[in-house]
Amino acid sequence: MKGSDSVISETTLVPLSPKDAACFRDVCRAAGYTQTKLHETFEFLVPPPSDRLPPALLASLGPCESPFDVLARLFFLGVPVDADVAGTLLPTAIVQSCLQSGLVSQDESKLCPAATLVPVDDLLFAADLQRTDYLDNDLFVPTLCDAALHLNAVAIHNRGGKTLDLCSGFALHGITASGRSESVVASDLNPRAAEFARFNAALNGCENVRAVTGDLFSAVAGERFDTILANPPFIISPSAVTTYRYSPFELDGFIKIMFAAVPEHLEEGGTFQTICEWVELEGQDWQDRLRSWFAGSGCDVWVLSANRQFPSTYARSVLSQSIDDESELSTQQQQWEQYLRQRGVAAIQGGFIFLRRRRGNNWFDFTELTKPVREPIGDAIAQGFASRDIVFGSDGDDRLLSSRLAVADGLRQVETSHWKDFRWKRDSIVLHLDKGLPVTIGIDGYIRTLIEQFDASRNVQQCLDLFSKEIGLPIETGRKKGLDVVRSMLKNGILVAMPK
Ligand SMILES: C[S@@+](CC[C@H](N)C(=O)[O-])C[C@H]1O[C@@H](n2cnc3c(N)ncnc32)[C@H](O)[C@@H]1O
Repeated sequence: MKGSDSVISETTLVPLSPKDAACFRDVCRAAGYTQTKLHETFEFLVPPPSDRLPPALLASLGPCESPFDVLARLFFLGVPVDADVAGTLLPTAIVQSCLQSGLVSQDESKLCPAATLVPVDDLLFAADLQRTDYLDNDLFVPTLCDAALHLNAVAIHNRGGKTLDLCSGFALHGITASGRSESVVASDLNPRAAEFARFNAALNGCENVRAVTGDLFSAVAGERFDTILANPPFIISPSAVTTYRYSPFELDGFIKIMFAAVPEHLEEGGTFQTICEWVELEGQDWQDRLRSWFAGSGCDVWVLSANRQFPSTYARSVLSQSIDDESELSTQQQQWEQYLRQRGVAAIQGGFIFLRRRRGNNWFDFTELTKPVREPIGDAIAQGFASRDIVFGSDGDDRLLSSRLAVADGLRQVETSHWKDFRWKRDSIVLHLDKGLPVTIGIDGYIRTLIEQFDASRNVQQCLDLFSKEIGLPIETGRKKGLDVVRSMLKNGILVAMPK
């Protein structure tokens, strides 16, 4: 470990008692200290580094005159608050809890934050203060980031069973799953992560969370889980600048090692969900490369690609998050590009990879996400697994043909036409799925007619026959052509299977 002698290693939070924690949560709720209000107020969900707060934001703050103002300044922006003002606006018991737990310290007349505290849904999560001088310390426990929010949004809400939050940090995923799990383990390489996980479990009244320390699965050797969620360090770079973000091995080697160990830690039917990045190598089909990682794993694998960047754009977008100086930025960008070029990297893809342990012929499938994931879509992901079981079923097309399907709720159609030769000529029909998997696809009139047949009352074969009749195709041709479309619509969530 490097850099472990800086000041953050001395910060240890003392978990609150159940009574104090409940009181703390009530005060935050009553103050409106919520994700929504923080977003409305500051226009971001992830706390910015407190030593790099945009001057315009500081200038716009105004006087501190409500409990929300105190909490947001201390725990979201990470700036001190006058102790008298805090004492007037917050209940004395809460100020005491903050001081006793170590969330804040008193420096003469100021209360100074020692941690961030972010609300996510109706839970609260403490992590280290966001400060640029902390970032390269191996003991640093980062707060909320976009990747964490994205993984949270796609998490399948399995009921009951054992959950593992792997590479847990402050244990967002484990604690969020705690209410629907029998037990939760939060595991991280960084021992301070376990301290934050324990603090956060107590803060949220979660009694079934165990926090452990170890490399990948080493602290849970021999244990199996029904749900595993992982937001690992995945940034691909010439050198692992920080343990919490950067892949410590060549290119995407860290996630490859992680995936190899997943199956032995999953119960039959159990799922593993991760957000990560992987490379496309020159002259190699990237899907074949990923598929080879999972050969013989005993798991179904679903890859959802959300973005694809060329090495130069990738290097610049990662580096510019921490480097302001243009000449330093371009020097480092060149080094990164050279590193990636020498290793034959054509592009870097980011997205989600989901595994489900299942006996039988396993499938591997790929979906390109055309829009960002913003809302919770765990149910749609579970539905996506069920749909793929139908599409890739070992009984050929029989199961698909006998399934009853319906058009998904939240499907929106946008049609554009132009006026020519005394009539409307159609330019495009685009379907947008506003609920579930964020999908946007262009279709033609035939596919629209096909989709319209699926009203949940008929099976696929009957729908295909009706479709053939409607457009005047021989039944066999209509079935064959239509079936390929149905498979693809089922996989992208535009059609969903009805219960038997
Ligand atoms: C990107 S952070 C994610 C933290 C948190 N799960 C979240 O979603 O916000 C990655 C985490 O992986 C941990 N980590 C890095 N290398 C690890 C390893 N070899 N084994 C276990 N955890 C590791 C880091 O300490 C860090 O907490």
